[in-house]
Amino acid sequence: MLLTDIFEEELQSSTVFRDESKLSAAYVPSSLPHRTSELRELIRLFLGVMKNPCKMSQQVILSGSIGIGKTALSKCFGKILEEYAKAHKINLHYVHVNCRRKKSRFLILREVVHHFNPTVPHRGYSPEELLHMLDHLLESQNIHLVLALDELDFLLRKNDESLLYDLIRWTDEQLNGVQRVSLILIVRDRAYLKDLDAGTLSSLQNNHIYLAPYSAFQLKDILQERAQESLLDFAVKLDVINLIADIASERGDARFALELLWRAGKYADRDRITSILPEHARLAKADIHPDFRKDIFQELSLHHRLVLLSIIRQLKKHRAAYTTTGSVEATYNIICEEYLETPRKHTQLWEYIKDLEQLCLITTKLSGKGVRGKTTLIGLPDAPLFLLENELQNSLRSVKNDT
Ligand SMILES: Nc1ncnc2c1ncn2[C@@H]1O[C@H](COP(=O)(O)OP(=O)(O)OP(=O)(O)O)[C@@H](O)[C@H]1O
Ligand SMILES: [Mg+2]
Repeated sequence: MLLTDIFEEELQSSTVFRDESKLSAAYVPSSLPHRTSELRELIRLFLGVMKNPCKMSQQVILSGSIGIGKTALSKCFGKILEEYAKAHKINLHYVHVNCRRKKSRFLILREVVHHFNPTVPHRGYSPEELLHMLDHLLESQNIHLVLALDELDFLLRKNDESLLYDLIRWTDEQLNGVQRVSLILIVRDRAYLKDLDAGTLSSLQNNHIYLAPYSAFQLKDILQERAQESLLDFAVKLDVINLIADIASERGDARFALELLWRAGKYADRDRITSILPEHARLAKADIHPDFRKDIFQELSLHHRLVLLSIIRQLKKHRAAYTTTGSVEATYNIICEEYLETPRKHTQLWEYIKDLEQLCLITTKLSGKGVRGKTTLIGLPDAPLFLLENELQNSLRSVKNDT
């Protein structure tokens, strides 16, 4: 059978999905069951800004653990805010920047400036110049900016608070003038904010919205609503939804719940049946590690992925808890051959390792006794290696097909 025939056959085969993309991490749902009170709180905090956008600004912290709707809540709120502003002819913009992807003060500011002026060149400006440019843009077009800094933990973990200081100082300087910038700071762990200086902290502390993990009952509602959008009628019964909600309720994590539903749907498609069975949900559970976010792989460059694969292969081969940079480099060179890529130089490799650590995909520590000299030991969080390797290999296949 030709490869294209297999592809055609798969395309034609029955599926439980109406629209798979509605279960993806990137999709922002139009309603957020069980987050109405938090949304209301956010709206209340911003009422002053909405009524008098140039006389007031606001700073709010959204916090809570993984997958509990911080990003979704902020984006939904941003949409409501912009719709209200448009209807009332207020020049207010909501800009959402992910600090894990844009991992420096410069990249974040450039993203914000680009939102207003896409023709600004990618290079040639310092962060101070970008800040100045933004100031000018907001002033000349009479804009109030609501800036959501998502996954801010990544910036704070790097001890790069300067952007936050810049933005807060900027607002302070405008105390009696026109207020141009409001902030929504999104963090998993509020502890990272405690190292900020007292002045900055005190202006933030009062407006804190904590999102609690979801119960099984709440996850059931979220899953049911999303199943209606993403799956065909009768493709999933209530007992399967309940089972998935129960599995994910241990962590209260909606992302994990939705991914389980998607995976279970894939197993039903594989078995060529039109309804997801409890066994498919169980299989899905065995496949997914809740701490590990598939979408992070999609954001890594090809060589970041190759380095990560080298680390996984090393640890697998030696059944070890840690490996060394030297061993990783040797494996990386072989893997580059396998993927027909030219290996990057040693210093670049070291940068990749630091980036992967920053993203919490790996851990590093200095060796103690027993290893010659001082060397960096590289380990992985507790997701099983075979899961990581499978996911990574799939993602490498897709990135290579795209190039
Ligand atoms: N109340 C809800 N109703 C519907 N979908 C939800 C709800 N809460 C979360 N989700 C969905 O769950 C997934 C994870 O939510 P989100 O990305 O907002 O989590 P997060 O708190 O930002 O997690 P992280 O800390 O990992 O960034 C998304 O697909 C989101 O649409
Ligand atoms: Mg998020």
